[in-house]
Amino acid sequence: MNKLILGDCLEVLKKIETETIDLVYIDPPFFSNRNYEIVWGDEGEKRSFQDRWSGGIDHYIDWLKTRVAEMHRILKPTGSIFLHCDWHANAYIKVFILDKIFGQHNFINEIIWCYTAPANVKNRFPQKHDTIFFYGKSKDYHFNSDEIKIPYNQETVARTNRGAGLTGLKVKGNAEERHKNRLDNDGKIPEDYWVDIFRVQGNGSERIGYPTQKPEKLLERIILSASNEGDTVLDCFMGGGTTIAVADKLKRNWIGIDQSPQAIKVTEFRLNVLQGKILGKSVDIFAKPFSVQLHKYDYDTLRYQDAFEFETWIVQQYGGLPNVKQKGDLGIDGKTTTGTPIQVKRSDNIGRNVIDNFLSAIQRHDKIAYERNKADKKPVGIIIAFSFGKGAVQEVARLKNSENIIIELLTVESIVPIAKKPSLEIKLVDTTDLAKDIPDKNVSTIWDGLKEILFEAHAKSEVEIQFFAWDFNYQGVFNPEILFDKTGKQTRKFSAGHHKIAVKVVDGEGLENIEIVELKINGKVERK
Ligand SMILES: C[S@@+](CC[C@H](N)C(=O)[O-])C[C@H]1O[C@@H](n2cnc3c(N)ncnc32)[C@H](O)[C@@H]1O
Repeated sequence: MNKLILGDCLEVLKKIETETIDLVYIDPPFFSNRNYEIVWGDEGEKRSFQDRWSGGIDHYIDWLKTRVAEMHRILKPTGSIFLHCDWHANAYIKVFILDKIFGQHNFINEIIWCYTAPANVKNRFPQKHDTIFFYGKSKDYHFNSDEIKIPYNQETVARTNRGAGLTGLKVKGNAEERHKNRLDNDGKIPEDYWVDIFRVQGNGSERIGYPTQKPEKLLERIILSASNEGDTVLDCFMGGGTTIAVADKLKRNWIGIDQSPQAIKVTEFRLNVLQGKILGKSVDIFAKPFSVQLHKYDYDTLRYQDAFEFETWIVQQYGGLPNVKQKGDLGIDGKTTTGTPIQVKRSDNIGRNVIDNFLSAIQRHDKIAYERNKADKKPVGIIIAFSFGKGAVQEVARLKNSENIIIELLTVESIVPIAKKPSLEIKLVDTTDLAKDIPDKNVSTIWDGLKEILFEAHAKSEVEIQFFAWDFNYQGVFNPEILFDKTGKQTRKFSAGHHKIAVKVVDGEGLENIEIVELKINGKVERK
């Protein structure tokens, strides 16, 4: 299943099976300066920053090398890596990491991605390109040249269209070459310098709002060239999820990893919009579901999940074998690997009666195993629940002391880490300034119903609140117009009618809450 995983990629990569990935693209933090490198500013990122920066370039190279070695391990023999970097460390990365791990003989391309951006240097040539190293794991790497062909001349046209200062460029290639290329209707494979892909624009629709976001077109070319539909693409410095979004669009399977909860959430929102979850008309029925793995599980999600799904899952998390039967199981939801029955209760404050019923179920279920465990002074059964009441705890103690029967009580939290999602409340203030909205009070204008409303989001969490995100035209899929709001305050004007506004809050564990406000505006503001 496609996955977004929170964590240091080193730890996460170690858990991925050898030779299972077709394509790795990474855009790791560059070896540059502090301010530029901090993308999200959360705790995870600050730790990672110190981890790789503390000892200068050698330390950075070691830091990256151990991770790239894991990427090499998990790539299939036909797989390849694209490592995106820039002048700060590209020479070191090639020689000390990629040539060492992949081997010089598996070096395929050094792609130069050129872009334009305002430059304010006077003592050198402005650095306006990134380097993307392309290595195969072996000589049998994939390369789909037909998928990425571009019309002859495309870069030149693209460049000239950028206007200012670049219009003087001549059409590339001599007459003969141009003629040859025109005959070839398929176009040509782009050269190893890419000038036809622009950086994400300040006001572009793709833009999420942080400096290192890469354009979808760039990832499209990479993914099309080096993977096929159904292949698995991995990006373990995922950021805002460009690789993942493009891989999903191109029907690749994918794994996205980042140590920042914000990166995970932003990518999750992006994918939900992309897949048009529950959005009626534009829903992509072929979209594959994906899972999001944070460090902690949300209590409410587990607590109110489908009972059977929860039972199966928690038994597996415990290391046991779930019972596949949903009915007639005498309340035995699974077993340990040595056969001890497990019962799961998806509730809190389990009472004494549960213990007694479970005990008789175990005895009926397998009398011999029960007697053997009892004689060996081993637990005859295990109950997993969110919490246990006093009566249950006392009953378990009594059984042990007076009848030598051991029943083990386990809380869900002792098996998987749990946290409560942040609380969220939205306050509305009508701040309509009638005097301002009706320009000339002497003219009998009918007030057009435009209302200005201040929204105040108040959230609380056991950990730091990371950001609020707002969708002022909510249609069932959360599609934030404002993504990184640290203040929780927004003002908007609304015309008469019904409006749905959705607000999300994300905390430092990546746990979220959502509140949907329905507004009716008809001269006054009503909250439904
Ligand atoms: C340059 S950004 C990637 C941008 C991305 N290519 C995009 O288009 O949005 C680098 C990312 O690496 C993440 N990162 C840094 N150290 C990491 C680590 N040890 N494990 C996983 N992710 C890490 C940061 O949180 C950041 O999101």
